[in-house]
This record gives sequence, C-alpha cells and structure tokens, in this order.
Amino acid sequence: MHQPQEIAIYIHWPFCKSKCPYCDFYKKIDCNINQDIIITEYIDALRRYRQILPERIVKSVFFGGGTPSLIKPNNIAIVIDEIVRLWPITENIEISLEANPNTHYQTMFQDLKNAGINRLSLGVQALNEADLHFLGRTHSLATARLCLREITSVFDNHSADLIYARPHQITADWKNELEEICTYGLKHISLYQLTIEENTVFARKGVKSLDEEAAVQMYEMTRDFLAANGYYLYEVSNFAQKGYESKHNLTYWQGGDYIGIGPSAHGRICLNGAHYATEYPFIHTQLSPQERAEELLIMGLRLTNGINKADFKKICGLDMHDFVNEQKLNFLKESGLLAETPTHLFATRSGFLLLNQLVLELCS
Ligand SMILES: C[S@@+](CC[C@H](N)C(=O)[O-])C[C@H]1O[C@@H](n2cnc3c(N)ncnc32)[C@H](O)[C@@H]1O
Ligand code: SF4
Repeated sequence: MHQPQEIAIYIHWPFCKSKCPYCDFYKKIDCNINQDIIITEYIDALRRYRQILPERIVKSVFFGGGTPSLIKPNNIAIVIDEIVRLWPITENIEISLEANPNTHYQTMFQDLKNAGINRLSLGVQALNEADLHFLGRTHSLATARLCLREITSVFDNHSADLIYARPHQITADWKNELEEICTYGLKHISLYQLTIEENTVFARKGVKSLDEEAAVQMYEMTRDFLAANGYYLYEVSNFAQKGYESKHNLTYWQGGDYIGIGPSAHGRICLNGAHYATEYPFIHTQLSPQERAEELLIMGLRLTNGINKADFKKICGLDMHDFVNEQKLNFLKESGLLAETPTHLFATRSGFLLLNQLVLELCS
C-alpha cells in the first residue's frame, strides 16, 4: 500500500510580552495585534500548502516563537483543527507549544491541552532569582516552579529550556539547578549555552559569555549528570528519557520535510525528487543535491547517533562518501573525532565539541 510521506508543521508566533536581552529570535512586542487576522492568514497559508502537498501525513506540529503561549487557546484549536481537516495525521502525532511562564494564568495549561496541545515546552532559563533577573525574565522563580509542577501534572509529554554558561556562573551552582530540574519528572530537557548574539541588548552592553574552557567543563558535567538521572544526550543541546526525543526537531536534524507558517518561518520540502527551501508565505527556492547534502551533514552530526548513510543517500541522492572529502574524513576518524559504522557516521564525544570545524573539513 502506498504510504504518504510524513511532514512536520512549524507555526511561528513572533510576539512576546517583553524582549529578553540575550535573544535574537525574530520577535515583536505584543501590543494591539489582532490575533484573529493573523490566524486567518495562517489558515490561508496552510490551505495553499495543502494544494501543493496533498499526499502527506502530518507527524508533528510545533507552535514556536516568540511566545506562542500568548495565542488564545481558541485560536490554537482553530489551527490544529484546520491541519487535521487538511491532512491525515499519524496515530501518535506530537503537537508541541513553547510557553513562557510570564504568560501564566490559572487554567492556562489545561486550556492548551483542551485546544489540542499534547507536549508542553517551558522556557525556564534559570532556577535562581538573581539569574532570572540578569536574563531579563519578567516572571518570578516561584512562577517558573509553579509552571513546572503544572505542566508535569497536566501533560504526559513535557520539556523545559534552561540557559547555562552565564557570565560568572560556577559549575557547582549550575549543578544545583540541574538537580532541581531533574526533580520534576520532565520527559525532555533542552540546555543551551548562553551565546551573545549580535544586535541584542547583551551585545550592546558588552556582556561576555563564559570562557570556552569553563563552558566545556560545564557541558561535560551536564552530560554525565543528566545521564546518571535518566536523560541521555541525543542532540548537542537536547536530553531526553528514552522514547521522548522531540519528534518535531528530529525532522530538522534527520532531513525530513517540514513547512513553516508565520513571519521568518522557513521549510524544506521535496517535490517530485527536487528539493526546495521555503520561506513564509510562499517563496520556494530550489536546492541542488550538494546544497541539500551539506545541510544533512551539518544537521545530522548534531545528533549523538549521527547520520544514517542510507537515509542520506535516499534524501539527497548522493552517496555520503562521494560527497565528503574522503581524505579529511579518514584523518578525522584517525584523530578520534569522528567514528563510522556500516550504517552511521557520528561525532565522538571529543568531536562533539568541535562540530563546526568537523563540518568545514568534511565539506572542503
Ligand atoms: C525562541 S525561545 C522560545 C521560548 C519562550 N519564548 C521563552 O522565552 O520562554 C527558545 C529558546 O532558545 C533559548 N535561547 C534564546 N536565545 C538564546 C541565547 N542567546 N543563548 C542561549 N539560548 C538562547 C532559550 O532557552 C529559549 O527558551
Ligand atoms: S527568549 Fe522567548 S520571551 Fe524572550 S525575547 Fe526570546 S522569544 Fe521572546
């Protein structure tokens, strides 16, 4: 029987209540917007995509931001219902939403669940009051903790984001936060090293990130600590209990098809054997097999399991060994930075700390 190809759908909500000084995600402050008009535009875009991608089955929907917990639950339900009307869905579809504790109200999580969300990702960022303040978060530690307790009681699948390697942070303090985050029974944890992005308040103020050596030490400690607590590292910044890896994000890292709805959202789709990068609302740019192969390498090596070589060939049409610089590949394997099995190519633990360089070498 013909099995329709799976697709993931990203819904971008670019509005936030306030701007965090470290964040360079495309966002606007939520004042006087008309949600209903924006949701109608999103529904129109989904319908257009249905016309060019009729034979698909939706495996995940991700409401990301910005702060999508600002979308009225009724509007979230409208979007989910429309997706379900337009395409068949997989039996275990993942429908995630990123929530900021600063949008919390008493029934928020239950309302989101009633609207159709089945995985909640909470932006906690820090588990002490001083660092929440430093990061410009406008919610208290008490509210973050309340949200953590609520999401684990309302949802079966949940995740939290924290930012570490903050300036002046010491490993012992970070470990205390890790100990706390492990007490909530979350299925998934995303831990990002603070990066000072251009054109942010932090960059303008000259805030410096932690020095490289200290950040690496924290990363290594984090990896071991979380493994001992049942969370294994499956992607550079992502840890999960077995079976609770983010289906949606795995689509990006494994080169699956996805569409992006909302300003600054983008997608990747394969149509009649050709690859396209999409930009909202409806710009399609064709990618060469080499361009697609390079993306597969960059994204795939972020996974601890690495790149499945058969999938690589199936997606971009090129044999991985024909595409990469074979001499460099052998050198990186001999240096203990990359490893290869008959099915996969992956970065070793030490290689994981040098991913950008590995990709540059392989594509040279
Ligand atoms: C687009 S944000 C969405 C979360 C939600 N808006 C919130 O702030 O609660 C996704 C995640 O990226 C991470 N992030 C954003 N900027 C970062 C930076 N400069 N350095 C490290 N992590 C960052 C944060 O952990 C954040 O939760
Ligand atoms: S971290 Fe989240 S809430 Fe803060 S500005 Fe970025 S998207 Fe908005």
